[in-house]
Amino acid sequence: MAELDPHVRTYYERGTEVERLEGGAAAGPLELERTKELILRDLPDAPPGGRLRILDIGGGPGVYAAWLAGLGHEVRLIDPVPLHLEQAVAADGRIDATPGDARHLDVPDGSVDVVLLLGPLYHLVEADDRRDALAEARRVLRPGGRVFAAAISRYAALLDLLVRLDRLHEPEVMAVAREAARSGRFAGARAGLFTNAYFHRPSELRAEVEAAGYVGAAVYNIEGPGFVVPDLPERWEDPARRQALLEAARLVESDPEMLAAASHLLAVARRPNDPSGGAAR
Ligand SMILES: C[S@@+](CC[C@H](N)C(=O)[O-])C[C@H]1O[C@@H](n2cnc3c(N)ncnc32)[C@H](O)[C@@H]1O
Repeated sequence: MAELDPHVRTYYERGTEVERLEGGAAAGPLELERTKELILRDLPDAPPGGRLRILDIGGGPGVYAAWLAGLGHEVRLIDPVPLHLEQAVAADGRIDATPGDARHLDVPDGSVDVVLLLGPLYHLVEADDRRDALAEARRVLRPGGRVFAAAISRYAALLDLLVRLDRLHEPEVMAVAREAARSGRFAGARAGLFTNAYFHRPSELRAEVEAAGYVGAAVYNIEGPGFVVPDLPERWEDPARRQALLEAARLVESDPEMLAAASHLLAVARRPNDPSGGAAR
């Protein structure tokens, strides 16, 4: 298996990823709800009486995999962290969880309808590695199959650390945020913030997806402006305020001028219907 950054491995071996989307991170529930909404909107139709074959690459502890298995789909999850595989199977015994790396998949060509890539692109700091991950995802998709690929937006840490967490004045935190804003490289492990990652500009994410041979690419702002709200967990508990957070995200989800102010970005695209790159389904 290709080498995983030891900082990334150590970070995920702590086992806290399993709680993140359900409240372990302030904006986790907003991210979860909105990502599901965007996936459902573009999920291809299952064949009559059948189910979609979904490959969740970097699926972590299986929050999305369990949701999709619960909707009746056939879900296989791949992740390099053994603890995540155990957690995914514990979340839903129908998930087929195997170790692997997004850059080299042990999966046959054209064998799945949908690929989720909700994590690997932001842990692959080198462009060549991200290119390989997108190429592998395309290879395993059937013609017309769909990819959902998440990235962290270039200024996510800057905004979060300044507005919500009020930590940008700490010299080491400022140094890491400054470098991420300049180059996209987030050396979070150095400052005890998340872990090492790559932060995309929206146009760069779209360009990487298109360069990997996908068509019909759209890039969405997942959480919208709500991710910087300091009392997000409390507001999320109130139905009217929760709706306002979701509606604010929907309002700006496709506005190119708001994309860079995102926390997470989601690229949705299709493998062309024919190998030469013809019209997608
Ligand atoms: C932030 S977690 C997201 C987990 C899950 N996809 C979700 O959205 O809840 C990022 C995941 O990417 C995985 N990952 C990191 N580098 C990877 C790589 N090169 N190939 C596959 N998965 C990778 C990590 O082990 C981790 O489970």
